[in-house]
Amino acid sequence: MRIVLHVWRQAGPKAPGGLVDYAADDLSPDMSFLEMLDVVNEELIAKGEEPIAFDSDCREGICGTCSLVINGVAHGGQRGTTACQLHMRHFKDGQTITIEPWRARGFPVLRDLVTDRGAFDRIIQAGGFVSVNTGGAPDANSLPIAKVASDRSMDAAACIGCGACVAACKNASAMLFVAAKVSHLALLPQGRVERTERVLNMVRQMDSEGFGNCTVTGSCEAVCPKEISLDFIARLNREYGLALLKGAKLHKEPA
Ligand code: SF4
Ligand code: FES
Repeated sequence: MRIVLHVWRQAGPKAPGGLVDYAADDLSPDMSFLEMLDVVNEELIAKGEEPIAFDSDCREGICGTCSLVINGVAHGGQRGTTACQLHMRHFKDGQTITIEPWRARGFPVLRDLVTDRGAFDRIIQAGGFVSVNTGGAPDANSLPIAKVASDRSMDAAACIGCGACVAACKNASAMLFVAAKVSHLALLPQGRVERTERVLNMVRQMDSEGFGNCTVTGSCEAVCPKEISLDFIARLNREYGLALLKGAKLHKEPA
């Protein structure tokens, strides 16, 4: 199959960027989207031109690095699918495809299709962990957890931190990501010990990184490759409100 590409090229963070046209011929419909970009890059290298910079790692839909906006949709619009798991058979022979990087203040463009998503790392560092005594693994049943809670926690833990939720949101809100991270820990007994300070710290960090507020458009849920539910944002708001109330109570206690 043959594809015409409009690809965002930008030499560096401060360089002006623009869409550049490329033609890709003799593609197999069974190629992944990233394999198609590899083919284009091999041709560019053979011609002595600069290859297109893009992020990828696992290419199995689990690491969250393949951050591409394809024809205006984060990850390309196939439900529950990362860009690396998208295949060329999803497109028509002769189709024109536009590829851009995530667009958000919190994810500045480094080069071409590569953005700096360190903001998500800093949000995790602000509170996305549990403090436990290390040592031997505890007996499997020593800490009973209700099935419904463990299932819900696993649903939230499926978030791969890709940032598509931010890229899709008109406010560049990171609420779905933070909601997933806060929820997957708060739902389990091990995560409840630091639950109050965790949600406050992660939300504070999220705001300081320049992400916008959630106005519940649902665009994040629609593009999320792990189909993280919007319900988790309601849970985050409850966790946050509860933490503020607890904080207010603690503040008044000494008096
Ligand atoms: S919530 Fe979904 S879209 Fe957002 S970072 Fe996690 S996996 Fe990616
Ligand atoms: S490269 Fe790892 S999720 Fe796409």
